Amino acid sequence: MWEKDDIKKVLYTNEDIVNRCKELGKEITEDYNKEDNPLLLVALLRGSVPFLSELLKHIDMDVQYDFMDVTSYVGTESQGDIKILKDLDGSIQGYDILLVEDIVDTGKTIETVVETLFHKGAKTVRIVTLLDKPSRRVANVKADYIGFEVGNEFVVGFGMDFDQKYRGLPYIGVLKDECYK
Ligand code: IMP
Repeated sequence: MWEKDDIKKVLYTNEDIVNRCKELGKEITEDYNKEDNPLLLVALLRGSVPFLSELLKHIDMDVQYDFMDVTSYVGTESQGDIKILKDLDGSIQGYDILLVEDIVDTGKTIETVVETLFHKGAKTVRIVTLLDKPSRRVANVKADYIGFEVGNEFVVGFGMDFDQKYRGLPYIGVLKDECYK
């Protein structure tokens, strides 16, 4: 069965996502293009890759990017501890960092990563997330740039997975109930 047949409803079409990335890219360009420091986008593997690649097209200035991998979810439930599995390749001393995330849920992941980035000498750290799920927030963090706000439901597509499936869907949707079993 095709992955797309498991989708109960589409929340955001590819066109919605591209249009929102254009708006976010414009905002980010306006906010950063007067800075002297280089802007480094730090994307969290693996979910934020499609968002990073769409967003990059709409940031109208020189940027660099790197990746980090941290543990997040098994199935649909949040784990308590977050561990860094892949760290940044280069020094970020004095850099302005824009952390790129697919979805901020409890906020524990970005809270830990932001702390780590400051520890490594980042000058500033802001967060851009494609989706924000504020109803589930536990950590005291807020993204600076938000694509869309979603309710308390598990979403897949455009990089986001359920047990490593559905990341390749070009839109964001909710699975049929039987798919979670
Ligand atoms: P947090 O630490 O609870 O904010 O978790 C953030 C991470 O959990 C995201 O980067 C995703 O990998 C994963 N996540 C949270 N909610 C969802 C969802 O609805 N669908 C897919 N992944 C999710």
